[in-house]
Amino acid sequence: MTARVVLGVSGGIAAYKACELLRRFTESGHDVTVVPTAAALRFVGSATWSALSGKPVSAEVWDDVHEVRHVRIGQAADLVVVAPATADLLARAAHGLADDLLTSTLLTARCPVVMAPAMHTEMWEHPATAANVATLRARGVVVLDPAEGRLTGADSGKGRLPEPAEIFEVAQAVLARDAAGGGADLAGRRVVVSAGGTREYLDPVRFLGNRSSGLQGVALARAAAARGAQVTLVAANVSLPDPGGVRVVRVETTAQLHEQMLAAAADADAVVMAAAPADFRPTAVSDAKIKRRADGTAAPLELTQNPDILRELAAHRSVPGQVVVGFAAETGDATGSVLELARAKLARKGCDLLVVNDVSGGAVFGSPDNQAVILAADGAAVEVPHGSKAALAHVVWDQVAARLG
Ligand code: CTP
Repeated sequence: MTARVVLGVSGGIAAYKACELLRRFTESGHDVTVVPTAAALRFVGSATWSALSGKPVSAEVWDDVHEVRHVRIGQAADLVVVAPATADLLARAAHGLADDLLTSTLLTARCPVVMAPAMHTEMWEHPATAANVATLRARGVVVLDPAEGRLTGADSGKGRLPEPAEIFEVAQAVLARDAAGGGADLAGRRVVVSAGGTREYLDPVRFLGNRSSGLQGVALARAAAARGAQVTLVAANVSLPDPGGVRVVRVETTAQLHEQMLAAAADADAVVMAAAPADFRPTAVSDAKIKRRADGTAAPLELTQNPDILRELAAHRSVPGQVVVGFAAETGDATGSVLELARAKLARKGCDLLVVNDVSGGAVFGSPDNQAVILAADGAAVEVPHGSKAALAHVVWDQVAARLG
């Protein structure tokens, strides 16, 4: 699918990274009009934008006035992406100013808008910026959370532009969703997703783990961000790149996952436990590497049961109306079929929705595809045919959105 994309660039040092984003758009066949601000042109000149987009570039409403560009560019767009979005640009957009070509374009565009803020941590955390971001999100603008890391100069913290490849992924997801008739229905919502598999250490080098890759959890986080949510991803040993615009908290053990999930769920509208926590951990963790035994006997392994995070989240909801979702990788056994066992698990966990995978044969792990049935506590069951993990993620969010007040 190719689209008419407006790439707005405001005046921050991360403007140079927007060149790579532009290339990704043009190489995928999109028709891109770059609209920099005057300040952005002090970082990257119009010759660069013009050469990379194959089009004339201007920051002013006073150029080519007969073409009425301050209105036409926005009207014709299928998607507007502003990267980087500075604190000043967010403020002007939130207040509906139209004092240059980019802000005029934002007022005339009726298509989805994605903003990727980049600024110093203090500016991002300032109540004025926070209020502007909340205003934009409430209007359905997809405002990505900045990444953490090195900022301009020697300092580091929250405020980095997410990687261009990740902004591009979000933009593609927003375009696909718009083409399918969906919008930013999670705008203004906070959601928490867990992903990956925990490790329970026996000693400094060995652990008990599982085969969860984190692909489904990352797909859920990406899909929620593309639908406008503010997303926290608690990632247990996930070796995939951080999804753009998502706050990522990395953990290793079930105890750490437990702690971070409870903290993140405290102000969340929805919580999805897509991670595979270990049910048991070694009762004692050896400080030193456990040695082979000269007499050839096996070392005893005593295990202690871990907390059931999902059950706890479902039982103690700190936000009224919070929607809690679990995943269950099931195989049928002598006591029941996959669906019978899953219904019983849904009731036992006390969650609102349970996404059930039939894993007889180990088909799901590490695969880009998935197939599931989503069972609801209200008795509903939605069959999701075999398809991408991204497609399943959207059906999960459809079900969550339908249950949010
Ligand atoms: N889960 C959890 N905490 C645990 C174990 C599982 O929160 N200690 C969550 C998983 O993230 C998943 C759901 O519970 O969303 C179901 O996981 P599963 O392993 O199927 O549940 P168990 O209670 O361990 O059931 P079983 O006895 O079938 O292993």
